[in-house]
Amino acid sequence: MTTALSLIDIAARKASGTKLSMVTCYDFWSARILNETDVDTLLVGDSLAMVMHGFESTVHADVDLMTLHVKAVARGAPGKFIIGDVPFLAARKGLKTAMDAVQQLMQAGANAVKVEGERGQVELISHMVDSGVPVMGHLGLTPQSINQLGGYRVQGKGKGDAETLLESARNLADAGCFALVLECVPHALAKDITDAIHIPTIGIGAGPATDGQVLVLQDMLGMNTNFKPRFLRHYAEGYGVIQTAVNRFHQETLQGCFPSLKESYK
Ligand code: KIV
Repeated sequence: MTTALSLIDIAARKASGTKLSMVTCYDFWSARILNETDVDTLLVGDSLAMVMHGFESTVHADVDLMTLHVKAVARGAPGKFIIGDVPFLAARKGLKTAMDAVQQLMQAGANAVKVEGERGQVELISHMVDSGVPVMGHLGLTPQSINQLGGYRVQGKGKGDAETLLESARNLADAGCFALVLECVPHALAKDITDAIHIPTIGIGAGPATDGQVLVLQDMLGMNTNFKPRFLRHYAEGYGVIQTAVNRFHQETLQGCFPSLKESYK
């Protein structure tokens, strides 16, 4: 069985220039599969609200929903470093609410939490870190703010926006974050941020220069044929694989050739 990376291992990757891989994981059965892969870390992302529950955005995830999924992933992947997303507004209603949310996620089996954004969050993140909770930051396209951003689009394109993002990245690194997700930012800006901070950057739609990459598992497995952003590479055509298997089962059931006697009890 693999053993989970530690924060020391993660920091050492940046120092040695060895990239980090991360995929999202939301449930027990995929966690069991991923536990036996080489992937470095698992993210129980609040994207599960969309991918697993069919909501329009991640705004619909709450702490109880995240906790349920973190518990399932922790049961399935004891050999992986698991990061749980702090969902919409859970870190915005004061220190006690935020720390209660973090406590719930960590006690559910997360090894770390991820907090979106920087503005108004730095003190809180420092408090989490000082309390023994590893925190991963998330800048660029922060989907919990989708209603403010007005759409899923690349962030930090203009000079001013790029400078603001760089400053935010520095603040999060100084606040004690152990890593930083950069989502949908120009690759040159992602490189500038990666070079400017001492913690690993994990990119999604942020080009090749980040210290690691993260993808949503279902997206990389080709489970969502309608979702084709520029940054996404399909590593399998899962949608078709599942349809073909289920259609074969259906046909063989109708034809009476499943099950055979060998697949039946005496
Ligand atoms: O919720 C999520 O899956 C994420 C990743 C896309 C980084 O935040």
